[in-house]
Amino acid sequence: MTQTPGLLTSTSQLLDEAIRKDFPILDRTVHDGKKLVYLDNAATSQKPRQVLDALNEYYERYNANVHRGVHVLAEEATALYEGARDKVAAFINAPSRDEVIFTKNASESLNLVANMLGWADEPYRVDHETEIVITEMEHHSNIVPWQLLSQRTGAKLKWFGLTDDGRLDLSNIDEIITEKTKIVSFVLVSNILGTVNPVEKIVRRAQEVGALVLIDASQAAPHMPLDVQALQADFVAFTGHKMCGPTGIGVLWGRQELLEDLPPFLGGGEMIETVSMHSSTYAPAPHKFEAGTPPIAQAVGLGAAIDYLSAIGMDKILAHEHALTEYAVKRLLDVPGLKIIGPTTAEDRGAAISFTLGDIHPHDVGQVLDEEGIAVRVGHHCARPVCLRYGIPATTRASFYLYSTPAEIDALVDGLEHVRNFFG
Ligand code: ALA
Repeated sequence: MTQTPGLLTSTSQLLDEAIRKDFPILDRTVHDGKKLVYLDNAATSQKPRQVLDALNEYYERYNANVHRGVHVLAEEATALYEGARDKVAAFINAPSRDEVIFTKNASESLNLVANMLGWADEPYRVDHETEIVITEMEHHSNIVPWQLLSQRTGAKLKWFGLTDDGRLDLSNIDEIITEKTKIVSFVLVSNILGTVNPVEKIVRRAQEVGALVLIDASQAAPHMPLDVQALQADFVAFTGHKMCGPTGIGVLWGRQELLEDLPPFLGGGEMIETVSMHSSTYAPAPHKFEAGTPPIAQAVGLGAAIDYLSAIGMDKILAHEHALTEYAVKRLLDVPGLKIIGPTTAEDRGAAISFTLGDIHPHDVGQVLDEEGIAVRVGHHCARPVCLRYGIPATTRASFYLYSTPAEIDALVDGLEHVRNFFG
Protein backbone atom coordinates (compact mmCIF):
# COMPACT_ATOMS: atom_id res chain seq x y z
CA MET A 1 0.00 0.00 0.00
CA THR A 2 1.34 3.41 -0.89
CA GLN A 3 0.29 5.87 1.76
CA THR A 4 1.56 9.39 1.13
CA PRO A 5 3.12 10.57 4.39
CA GLY A 6 1.73 13.73 5.94
CA LEU A 7 -1.62 13.79 4.15
CA LEU A 8 -3.56 12.00 6.86
CA THR A 9 -3.53 14.73 9.49
CA SER A 10 -6.46 13.75 11.71
CA THR A 11 -5.61 10.20 12.79
CA SER A 12 -6.95 10.91 16.28
CA GLN A 13 -10.42 11.32 14.76
CA LEU A 14 -10.45 7.85 13.24
CA LEU A 15 -12.53 5.12 14.84
CA ASP A 16 -10.82 2.00 16.11
CA GLU A 17 -10.50 -0.48 13.24
CA ALA A 18 -11.68 -3.18 15.64
CA ILE A 19 -15.26 -2.22 14.70
CA ARG A 20 -14.66 -3.89 11.34
CA LYS A 21 -14.92 -7.21 13.17
CA ASP A 22 -18.62 -6.43 13.75
CA PHE A 23 -19.20 -6.62 9.98
CA PRO A 24 -18.75 -10.23 8.83
CA ILE A 25 -18.91 -9.35 5.12
CA LEU A 26 -15.79 -7.19 5.37
CA ASP A 27 -13.75 -10.39 5.81
CA ARG A 28 -14.83 -11.61 2.39
CA THR A 29 -12.53 -12.01 -0.52
CA VAL A 30 -13.58 -11.59 -4.16
CA HIS A 31 -12.05 -12.53 -7.52
CA ASP A 32 -9.85 -15.41 -6.37
CA GLY A 33 -8.73 -14.20 -2.99
CA LYS A 34 -8.63 -10.42 -3.39
CA LYS A 35 -9.48 -8.63 -0.18
CA LEU A 36 -12.82 -6.82 -0.49
CA VAL A 37 -12.50 -3.03 -0.35
CA TYR A 38 -16.09 -1.87 -0.04
CA LEU A 39 -16.41 1.77 -1.10
CA ASP A 40 -20.06 1.76 -2.20
CA ASN A 41 -21.60 2.84 1.08
CA ALA A 42 -23.75 5.60 -0.42
CA ALA A 43 -25.60 2.86 -2.31
CA THR A 44 -26.00 0.69 0.75
CA SER A 45 -24.08 0.08 3.96
CA GLN A 46 -22.93 -3.25 5.32
CA LYS A 47 -24.67 -4.70 8.39
CA PRO A 48 -23.06 -5.41 11.76
CA ARG A 49 -23.50 -8.73 13.53
CA GLN A 50 -25.72 -6.95 16.09
CA VAL A 51 -28.28 -6.13 13.37
CA LEU A 52 -28.09 -9.57 11.78
CA ASP A 53 -28.63 -11.13 15.23
CA ALA A 54 -31.63 -8.90 15.94
CA LEU A 55 -33.25 -9.92 12.65
CA ASN A 56 -32.61 -13.59 13.35
CA GLU A 57 -33.84 -13.36 16.89
CA TYR A 58 -37.00 -11.60 15.77
CA TYR A 59 -37.86 -14.39 13.34
CA GLU A 60 -36.75 -17.17 15.69
CA ARG A 61 -38.63 -15.95 18.76
CA TYR A 62 -41.19 -13.22 18.12
CA ASN A 63 -42.51 -13.35 14.57
CA ALA A 64 -46.21 -12.39 14.42
CA ASN A 65 -48.32 -9.68 12.85
CA VAL A 66 -48.49 -6.40 14.79
CA HIS A 67 -51.46 -4.49 16.28
CA ARG A 68 -53.80 -7.36 15.43
CA GLY A 69 -53.49 -10.23 17.87
CA VAL A 70 -54.20 -10.85 21.52
CA HIS A 71 -51.69 -13.68 21.76
CA VAL A 72 -48.25 -13.38 23.31
CA LEU A 73 -46.26 -13.35 20.09
CA ALA A 74 -48.47 -10.63 18.58
CA GLU A 75 -48.01 -8.50 21.68
CA GLU A 76 -44.25 -9.04 21.74
CA ALA A 77 -43.89 -8.33 18.03
CA THR A 78 -45.97 -5.15 18.46
CA ALA A 79 -43.79 -4.05 21.38
CA LEU A 80 -40.66 -4.59 19.29
CA TYR A 81 -42.09 -2.76 16.27
CA GLU A 82 -43.30 0.19 18.34
CA GLY A 83 -40.03 0.09 20.31
CA ALA A 84 -38.20 0.63 17.03
CA ARG A 85 -40.37 3.72 16.47
CA ASP A 86 -39.24 5.04 19.87
CA LYS A 87 -35.61 4.48 18.90
CA VAL A 88 -36.03 6.36 15.62
CA ALA A 89 -37.81 9.22 17.40
CA ALA A 90 -34.95 9.55 19.91
CA PHE A 91 -32.29 9.23 17.18
CA ILE A 92 -33.69 12.21 15.23
CA ASN A 93 -34.85 14.16 18.29
CA ALA A 94 -38.51 14.06 17.20
CA PRO A 95 -40.84 15.83 19.64
CA SER A 96 -43.22 12.86 19.47
CA ARG A 97 -42.97 9.18 18.51
CA ASP A 98 -46.27 9.61 16.65
CA GLU A 99 -44.44 11.77 14.12
CA VAL A 100 -42.39 8.79 12.89
CA ILE A 101 -43.94 6.93 9.93
CA PHE A 102 -42.39 3.69 8.75
CA THR A 103 -42.24 3.27 4.98
CA LYS A 104 -40.42 0.89 2.69
CA ASN A 105 -37.60 3.30 1.77
CA ALA A 106 -36.80 6.99 1.35
CA SER A 107 -38.40 7.01 -2.12
CA GLU A 108 -41.69 5.91 -0.60
CA SER A 109 -41.35 8.58 2.10
CA LEU A 110 -40.85 11.29 -0.54
CA ASN A 111 -43.69 9.96 -2.70
CA LEU A 112 -45.92 9.90 0.36
CA VAL A 113 -45.46 13.63 0.96
CA ALA A 114 -46.07 14.42 -2.72
CA ASN A 115 -49.30 12.45 -2.58
CA MET A 116 -50.41 13.90 0.76
CA LEU A 117 -50.11 17.38 -0.73
CA GLY A 118 -51.67 16.38 -4.03
CA TRP A 119 -54.82 15.11 -2.32
CA ALA A 120 -54.91 17.70 0.48
CA ASP A 121 -57.46 20.46 1.00
CA GLU A 122 -56.47 24.07 1.48
CA PRO A 123 -54.17 25.42 2.80
CA TYR A 124 -51.83 22.59 1.77
CA ARG A 125 -53.18 21.63 -1.62
CA VAL A 126 -50.83 21.79 -4.59
CA ASP A 127 -52.74 22.92 -7.70
CA HIS A 128 -52.29 24.80 -10.96
CA GLU A 129 -51.89 28.12 -9.18
CA THR A 130 -49.04 26.93 -6.98
CA GLU A 131 -45.36 26.06 -7.33
CA ILE A 132 -43.10 23.22 -6.22
CA VAL A 133 -39.38 23.86 -5.66
CA ILE A 134 -36.60 21.26 -5.82
CA THR A 135 -32.92 21.40 -6.85
CA GLU A 136 -30.85 20.17 -9.76
CA MET A 137 -28.84 17.89 -7.44
CA GLU A 138 -31.78 15.77 -6.31
CA HIS A 139 -31.85 12.01 -6.53
CA HIS A 140 -34.52 10.86 -9.01
CA SER A 141 -36.65 9.94 -6.00
CA ASN A 142 -36.96 13.64 -5.19
CA ILE A 143 -37.58 14.69 -8.80
CA VAL A 144 -39.98 12.19 -10.33
CA PRO A 145 -42.69 12.33 -7.60
CA TRP A 146 -42.83 16.11 -8.05
CA GLN A 147 -42.94 15.82 -11.84
CA LEU A 148 -45.86 13.41 -11.44
CA LEU A 149 -47.61 15.78 -9.05
CA SER A 150 -46.97 18.73 -11.34
CA GLN A 151 -48.37 16.83 -14.34
CA ARG A 152 -51.44 15.80 -12.36
CA THR A 153 -52.22 19.17 -10.81
CA GLY A 154 -50.74 21.72 -13.21
CA ALA A 155 -48.46 23.09 -10.46
CA LYS A 156 -45.26 24.65 -11.78
CA LEU A 157 -42.04 22.77 -10.97
CA LYS A 158 -39.04 25.03 -10.33
CA TRP A 159 -35.51 24.25 -9.17
CA PHE A 160 -32.26 25.71 -7.93
CA GLY A 161 -29.38 25.23 -10.36
CA LEU A 162 -25.80 24.30 -9.49
CA THR A 163 -22.57 26.26 -9.39
CA ASP A 164 -19.49 25.02 -11.22
CA ASP A 165 -18.02 23.73 -7.97
CA GLY A 166 -20.98 21.50 -7.13
CA ARG A 167 -22.99 23.68 -4.77
CA LEU A 168 -26.53 24.99 -4.94
CA ASP A 169 -26.83 28.31 -6.72
CA LEU A 170 -29.02 30.24 -4.31
CA SER A 171 -28.29 33.66 -5.85
CA ASN A 172 -31.90 33.86 -7.09
CA ILE A 173 -33.52 32.34 -3.99
CA ASP A 174 -36.22 35.04 -3.82
CA GLU A 175 -37.29 34.37 -7.42
CA ILE A 176 -37.30 30.60 -7.04
CA ILE A 177 -39.15 30.49 -3.70
CA THR A 178 -42.12 32.86 -3.94
CA GLU A 179 -45.54 33.44 -2.40
CA LYS A 180 -46.82 30.75 -4.78
CA THR A 181 -44.47 28.06 -3.44
CA LYS A 182 -46.28 25.31 -1.57
CA ILE A 183 -43.36 22.98 -0.92
CA VAL A 184 -39.57 23.15 -1.08
CA SER A 185 -38.03 19.69 -1.19
CA PHE A 186 -34.26 19.30 -1.20
CA VAL A 187 -31.45 16.98 -0.29
CA LEU A 188 -29.34 17.60 2.82
CA VAL A 189 -26.26 15.75 1.50
CA SER A 190 -26.02 15.00 -2.23
CA ASN A 191 -25.54 11.32 -3.09
CA ILE A 192 -23.54 12.17 -6.20
CA LEU A 193 -21.68 15.40 -5.38
CA GLY A 194 -21.27 14.89 -1.65
CA THR A 195 -22.29 18.53 -1.08
CA VAL A 196 -23.79 19.41 2.30
CA ASN A 197 -26.48 22.00 1.60
CA PRO A 198 -27.16 25.21 3.58
CA VAL A 199 -30.45 24.15 5.16
CA GLU A 200 -30.96 27.23 7.28
CA LYS A 201 -30.92 29.70 4.39
CA ILE A 202 -33.45 27.69 2.37
CA VAL A 203 -35.73 27.00 5.35
CA ARG A 204 -35.71 30.68 6.33
CA ARG A 205 -36.86 31.76 2.86
CA ALA A 206 -39.51 28.99 2.72
CA GLN A 207 -40.85 30.08 6.09
CA GLU A 208 -41.02 33.71 4.91
CA VAL A 209 -43.48 32.71 2.18
CA GLY A 210 -45.30 30.05 4.22
CA ALA A 211 -44.07 27.09 2.13
CA LEU A 212 -43.59 23.64 3.61
CA VAL A 213 -40.09 22.11 3.66
CA LEU A 214 -39.20 18.47 3.02
CA ILE A 215 -35.59 17.39 3.55
CA ASP A 216 -34.20 14.23 1.96
CA ALA A 217 -31.74 13.09 4.63
CA SER A 218 -30.91 9.71 3.07
CA GLN A 219 -27.20 10.48 2.86
CA ALA A 220 -27.15 12.42 6.15
CA ALA A 221 -28.91 10.21 8.70
CA PRO A 222 -26.26 7.45 8.46
CA HIS A 223 -23.33 9.85 8.82
CA MET A 224 -24.05 12.72 11.20
CA PRO A 225 -26.24 13.66 14.16
CA LEU A 226 -29.71 14.44 12.79
CA ASP A 227 -32.01 16.71 14.78
CA VAL A 228 -35.33 17.34 13.04
CA GLN A 229 -36.17 20.15 15.45
CA ALA A 230 -32.91 21.98 14.71
CA LEU A 231 -33.48 21.56 10.96
CA GLN A 232 -36.86 23.31 11.35
CA ALA A 233 -38.25 21.38 8.39
CA ASP A 234 -41.82 20.08 8.15
CA PHE A 235 -40.86 16.63 6.86
CA VAL A 236 -37.61 14.63 6.86
CA ALA A 237 -37.16 11.41 4.86
CA PHE A 238 -34.43 8.76 5.10
CA THR A 239 -33.83 5.06 4.65
CA GLY A 240 -32.61 2.27 6.92
CA HIS A 241 -30.32 0.29 4.65
CA LYS A 242 -27.75 3.04 4.28
CA MET A 243 -27.34 3.25 8.08
CA CYS A 244 -26.50 -0.36 8.94
CA GLY A 245 -30.15 -1.45 8.90
CA PRO A 246 -31.84 -3.90 6.55
CA THR A 247 -33.42 -3.04 3.22
CA GLY A 248 -37.19 -2.54 3.11
CA ILE A 249 -37.50 0.06 5.85
CA GLY A 250 -37.63 3.83 5.46
CA VAL A 251 -38.77 6.70 7.64
CA LEU A 252 -40.84 9.79 7.11
CA TRP A 253 -40.83 12.21 10.00
CA GLY A 254 -43.50 14.92 9.83
CA ARG A 255 -44.77 17.62 12.17
CA GLN A 256 -47.69 16.31 14.16
CA GLU A 257 -50.26 18.94 13.19
CA LEU A 258 -49.50 18.36 9.51
CA LEU A 259 -49.86 14.61 9.88
CA GLU A 260 -53.19 15.18 11.59
CA ASP A 261 -54.44 17.46 8.80
CA LEU A 262 -53.09 15.73 5.70
CA PRO A 263 -54.90 12.84 4.02
CA PRO A 264 -53.55 9.29 3.78
CA PHE A 265 -52.22 7.99 0.49
CA LEU A 266 -52.43 4.20 0.71
CA GLY A 267 -55.62 2.68 2.07
CA GLY A 268 -55.93 -0.70 3.74
CA GLY A 269 -55.87 -2.56 7.00
CA GLU A 270 -54.75 -0.92 10.24
CA MET A 271 -54.84 2.65 8.88
CA ILE A 272 -58.54 2.97 9.66
CA GLU A 273 -60.76 3.75 12.61
CA THR A 274 -64.02 2.43 11.10
CA VAL A 275 -65.01 1.14 7.68
CA SER A 276 -68.47 0.79 6.16
CA MET A 277 -69.36 0.03 2.57
CA HIS A 278 -69.87 3.75 2.01
CA SER A 279 -66.94 5.41 3.74
CA SER A 280 -64.13 5.10 6.26
CA THR A 281 -62.53 7.14 8.98
CA TYR A 282 -58.85 6.97 9.68
CA ALA A 283 -56.63 6.08 12.62
CA PRO A 284 -54.46 8.85 14.04
CA ALA A 285 -50.91 9.31 12.70
CA PRO A 286 -48.62 7.50 12.27
CA HIS A 287 -50.94 4.53 11.64
CA LYS A 288 -53.02 6.54 9.16
CA PHE A 289 -50.01 6.36 6.84
CA GLU A 290 -49.04 2.71 7.43
CA ALA A 291 -51.62 0.65 5.50
CA GLY A 292 -51.27 -3.11 5.53
CA THR A 293 -48.75 -5.32 7.32
CA PRO A 294 -45.74 -3.07 7.89
CA PRO A 295 -42.05 -4.03 7.52
CA ILE A 296 -41.89 -5.42 11.06
CA ALA A 297 -38.60 -7.32 11.09
CA GLN A 298 -37.02 -4.51 9.09
CA ALA A 299 -38.11 -1.94 11.68
CA VAL A 300 -36.66 -4.13 14.44
CA GLY A 301 -33.42 -4.34 12.42
CA LEU A 302 -33.37 -0.57 12.01
CA GLY A 303 -33.83 -0.22 15.78
CA ALA A 304 -30.79 -2.46 16.32
CA ALA A 305 -28.81 -0.39 13.80
CA ILE A 306 -29.72 2.78 15.69
CA ASP A 307 -28.56 1.17 18.95
CA TYR A 308 -25.31 0.21 17.26
CA LEU A 309 -24.63 3.65 15.74
CA SER A 310 -25.68 5.47 18.91
CA ALA A 311 -23.34 3.38 21.07
CA ILE A 312 -20.44 4.50 18.87
CA GLY A 313 -21.75 8.08 18.68
CA MET A 314 -22.88 9.93 15.55
CA ASP A 315 -20.47 12.79 16.27
CA LYS A 316 -17.57 10.31 16.33
CA ILE A 317 -18.78 8.73 13.08
CA LEU A 318 -18.95 12.18 11.48
CA ALA A 319 -15.41 13.04 12.67
CA HIS A 320 -14.08 9.71 11.36
CA GLU A 321 -15.63 10.23 7.94
CA HIS A 322 -14.47 13.82 7.84
CA ALA A 323 -10.85 12.79 8.46
CA LEU A 324 -11.11 10.05 5.83
CA THR A 325 -12.76 12.36 3.29
CA GLU A 326 -10.11 15.02 3.80
CA TYR A 327 -7.41 12.40 3.17
CA ALA A 328 -9.26 10.92 0.18
CA VAL A 329 -9.79 14.31 -1.48
CA LYS A 330 -6.09 15.14 -1.16
CA ARG A 331 -4.98 11.78 -2.48
CA LEU A 332 -7.45 11.70 -5.35
CA LEU A 333 -6.53 15.21 -6.49
CA ASP A 334 -2.96 13.92 -6.92
CA VAL A 335 -4.06 11.27 -9.42
CA PRO A 336 -3.16 12.54 -12.93
CA GLY A 337 -6.29 13.27 -15.00
CA LEU A 338 -8.69 12.86 -12.08
CA LYS A 339 -11.37 15.52 -11.64
CA ILE A 340 -13.63 15.58 -8.60
CA ILE A 341 -17.24 16.41 -9.52
CA GLY A 342 -18.37 18.27 -6.41
CA PRO A 343 -16.72 20.28 -3.65
CA THR A 344 -12.97 19.73 -3.31
CA THR A 345 -12.82 20.86 0.30
CA ALA A 346 -13.67 18.42 3.09
CA GLU A 347 -15.50 21.04 5.20
CA ASP A 348 -18.85 21.16 3.47
CA ARG A 349 -19.01 17.74 1.95
CA GLY A 350 -20.04 14.26 2.95
CA ALA A 351 -18.14 11.04 2.43
CA ALA A 352 -19.25 10.31 -1.15
CA ILE A 353 -16.76 11.47 -3.76
CA SER A 354 -17.57 11.39 -7.48
CA PHE A 355 -14.87 11.80 -10.07
CA THR A 356 -13.94 11.37 -13.71
CA LEU A 357 -10.58 10.00 -14.84
CA GLY A 358 -9.50 11.59 -18.11
CA ASP A 359 -11.37 10.07 -21.03
CA ILE A 360 -11.73 6.66 -19.43
CA HIS A 361 -15.38 5.74 -19.15
CA PRO A 362 -16.51 5.30 -15.52
CA HIS A 363 -17.85 1.84 -16.33
CA ASP A 364 -14.35 0.81 -17.40
CA VAL A 365 -12.89 2.38 -14.26
CA GLY A 366 -15.38 0.48 -12.11
CA GLN A 367 -14.70 -2.80 -13.85
CA VAL A 368 -10.92 -2.64 -13.47
CA LEU A 369 -11.30 -1.58 -9.83
CA ASP A 370 -13.67 -4.48 -9.26
CA GLU A 371 -11.06 -6.88 -10.59
CA GLU A 372 -8.80 -5.51 -7.84
CA GLY A 373 -11.50 -6.22 -5.24
CA ILE A 374 -12.55 -2.56 -4.96
CA ALA A 375 -16.31 -1.94 -5.02
CA VAL A 376 -17.37 1.54 -6.19
CA ARG A 377 -20.50 2.73 -7.97
CA VAL A 378 -20.41 4.02 -11.53
CA GLY A 379 -23.13 5.69 -13.59
CA HIS A 380 -25.39 8.68 -13.01
CA HIS A 381 -26.23 7.55 -9.46
CA CYS A 382 -29.96 8.20 -9.99
CA ALA A 383 -29.08 11.88 -10.29
CA ARG A 384 -28.83 12.21 -14.05
CA PRO A 385 -29.52 15.98 -14.17
CA VAL A 386 -26.22 16.48 -12.32
CA CYS A 387 -24.34 14.63 -15.06
CA LEU A 388 -26.18 16.67 -17.70
CA ARG A 389 -25.28 19.89 -15.86
CA TYR A 390 -21.57 19.04 -15.90
CA GLY A 391 -21.60 17.60 -19.43
CA ILE A 392 -20.45 14.12 -18.42
CA PRO A 393 -22.12 10.77 -19.10
CA ALA A 394 -21.40 9.34 -15.67
CA THR A 395 -18.99 9.38 -12.74
CA THR A 396 -17.11 6.90 -10.61
CA ARG A 397 -18.13 7.30 -6.97
CA ALA A 398 -16.25 6.14 -3.88
CA SER A 399 -18.19 6.47 -0.64
CA PHE A 400 -17.03 5.77 2.89
CA TYR A 401 -18.59 4.75 6.17
CA LEU A 402 -17.65 4.18 9.79
CA TYR A 403 -15.66 1.01 8.99
CA SER A 404 -13.73 2.52 6.05
CA THR A 405 -9.98 2.95 6.54
CA PRO A 406 -7.15 5.07 5.13
CA ALA A 407 -5.63 1.84 3.77
CA GLU A 408 -8.78 1.36 1.67
CA ILE A 409 -8.33 4.84 0.22
CA ASP A 410 -4.73 3.93 -0.57
CA ALA A 411 -6.00 0.78 -2.28
CA LEU A 412 -8.41 2.91 -4.34
CA VAL A 413 -5.62 5.25 -5.42
CA ASP A 414 -3.39 2.26 -6.32
CA GLY A 415 -6.33 0.77 -8.21
CA LEU A 416 -6.76 3.99 -10.18
CA GLU A 417 -3.07 3.85 -11.10
CA HIS A 418 -3.75 0.37 -12.41
CA VAL A 419 -6.73 1.69 -14.40
CA ARG A 420 -4.56 4.40 -15.96
CA ASN A 421 -1.87 1.89 -16.92
CA PHE A 422 -4.48 -0.52 -18.30
CA PHE A 423 -5.96 2.14 -20.58
CA GLY A 424 -2.58 3.59 -21.49
N1 ALA B 1 -29.36 6.20 -3.72
C1 ALA B 1 -28.36 5.18 -3.77
C2 ALA B 1 -27.07 5.68 -4.36
O1 ALA B 1 -26.82 6.84 -4.40
C3 ALA B 1 -28.81 3.92 -4.35
O2 ALA B 1 -26.27 4.88 -4.80
